[in-house]
Amino acid sequence: MDIFRINGQKRLEGEIKIHGSKNSALPILAAAVLVQGQTTIHNCPRLSDVDAAIEILEALGCQVTRTGHSVLIDATALSSSEISDSMMLKMRSSVVFLGAILGRTGEAKLSTPGGCEIGLRPIDLHISAMKQMGAEMQSKDGKLFFSAANGLQGANITLAFPSVGATENVLLAAATAKGRTILSNAAREPEISDLADFLNAAGARIQGAGDSTVIIDGVSHLHAVTHTVIPDRIAASTYLLAGAMTKGSVKVDGIIPAHVGALLPILEEAGCHLTVGSKWVHLDAPPRLRPVKMTRTMPYPGFPTDVQAPLSAMLTVADGTSVIVENIFESRYKHAASLLRFGAKISVEGRMEVIEGVPFLTGARVEAPDLRGGMALVLAGLAAQGETTVSGLSHIDRGYEAPEKLLKSLGADIQRIKDYAGTKIENETNADPELTGEKCGETE
Ligand code: EPZ
Repeated sequence: MDIFRINGQKRLEGEIKIHGSKNSALPILAAAVLVQGQTTIHNCPRLSDVDAAIEILEALGCQVTRTGHSVLIDATALSSSEISDSMMLKMRSSVVFLGAILGRTGEAKLSTPGGCEIGLRPIDLHISAMKQMGAEMQSKDGKLFFSAANGLQGANITLAFPSVGATENVLLAAATAKGRTILSNAAREPEISDLADFLNAAGARIQGAGDSTVIIDGVSHLHAVTHTVIPDRIAASTYLLAGAMTKGSVKVDGIIPAHVGALLPILEEAGCHLTVGSKWVHLDAPPRLRPVKMTRTMPYPGFPTDVQAPLSAMLTVADGTSVIVENIFESRYKHAASLLRFGAKISVEGRMEVIEGVPFLTGARVEAPDLRGGMALVLAGLAAQGETTVSGLSHIDRGYEAPEKLLKSLGADIQRIKDYAGTKIENETNADPELTGEKCGETE
C-alpha cells in the first residue's frame, strides 16, 4: 500500500500542465468499440481507470497499444460482448461500454454496477434508454443481458435527470442505430461534447452535443479516427484550490478556462486574484481566505460535484463560515470525517455541509475515502502545520496522474512512499455518523 507523506505549509508557486480528462477518455475509449479500424487517442491520461478501460477493450478482443499519453486501438476483431464481473467491480463506470457494445454487436452482458462510496449510482436511465431504442433486457443473478436482434432503432428519449453516463450511452448506442434519435434533457458536460467530437470525426452525425437536446442520425459504420482528449477540468480545479489554500501563486496551463467557469467566481469570492488566458488560469491567493457563503453542486455548467470535496478542504481555513449543498450524489461527504482530524470544524446535515473556518489545520494520519475526497485530504495536508500521511492512494490514482510530481514541482513537500508497511491508518470512526455518510453503508 502506497502512502503520501506531506510536510505542510509550503506555499505553492509555479506553473503546471494539466493532463487529459479521465471522464472524457473513458467514454472515448468505449467508443473505439464502434470503430471498424484504427482509433488513435492522444492526451490520454495515465490513470488506473484508463488502465481498467484498456483491460476491458482487450478482453473484448480489441488490439490495444499505448505509448506515453497515446493509445492505439483496433476493434476490427472484436470477439466478445461481455464485461466481466471483476471488471465491473473494479470500475463501476465500465457501464459506459454498454451502448458501444450493444451498438456494435447487438447484444451486451454485464453485471449490475452497484453503488460506490459516493452513492447508490443506479443505472435505470441507461437501461430505459436502451430499451427505448429496441433492446430487450433480462436480469439474472445480478447480471444484465441485453439483446437487440434487429439492431438498435433511433428513438425520442427524454432523461429524467441529465445523467452524464446515460447521455454518453445514448450517443454511443445511437451513433450506428437505424434512424434518428432525439435526446432531450441531455447532460451538457464538456466530456459529452468531446465524445460527440470524437464520434463525428469517425463519421457519426451528431448535432447539439453540449446543449440539452442532442440529435443523432445513425450511420452504417464508423471509420478510423484520431482524436485528442480535452484537459481534465476537475484536476485543474483541484490544483487551483491547492494554490488558494497555501497562500500560493499557481498557474494551471493547457486547460480550457470555460470548463472551470463555475469555480472562478467562488475563488474570487474567497479573495483570490485570477488572471485568465486562452489556455490557462493564474491564481494569486490572499494571506487569509474569505468564506464562500453558499455553493450548490449542479449539472454543468453549474458547480461540479467532483470539485465539492476539494472546495470543502479549502473552506476549512477561510475566515468565516461557508455552506455547501451537494445536489448530485447522496453521500459525498465522506471526506468531512477525516478533515475533522486536521482540526477542521465541519457539520453535515443531509446534503448540507457547514464549514466554520479555523485559523490553521494540524497534520493528521488519514485514509482516502474515495477519489475526490482523497485529494481533499491531500490539500488539507498541504495547508496543515506539521506532517500528514494519506493512505488509500488507489482511490486517488484513479483520477489524478502523478499528483505528487505536480505538487512537488510547485514547491510542496510531498513524498509517495511505496509499499508502506506501517500500521493501517484507521479513519475516525467515532465521528458523528452523519458526517461519515456511513449510514448509507456504500462500499466500492
Ligand atoms: C459521471 O458519473 C462522472 N464519472 C462522475 O465523476 C461525476 O461526478 C458525474 O458524472 C456527475 O457529473 C464519469 O464520467 C466516469 P450521472 P455518472 O449519471 O455518469 C443519478 C469522478 O469523481 N442517476 O450524471 O455516473 C446518479 O445516482 C466521478 O470523476 C440515476 O438516478 O453520473 C446521480 O445521483 C464521480 N440513474 C446523478 O444521477 C441513472 O441511470 C448523476 O449521475 C444514472 C444516474
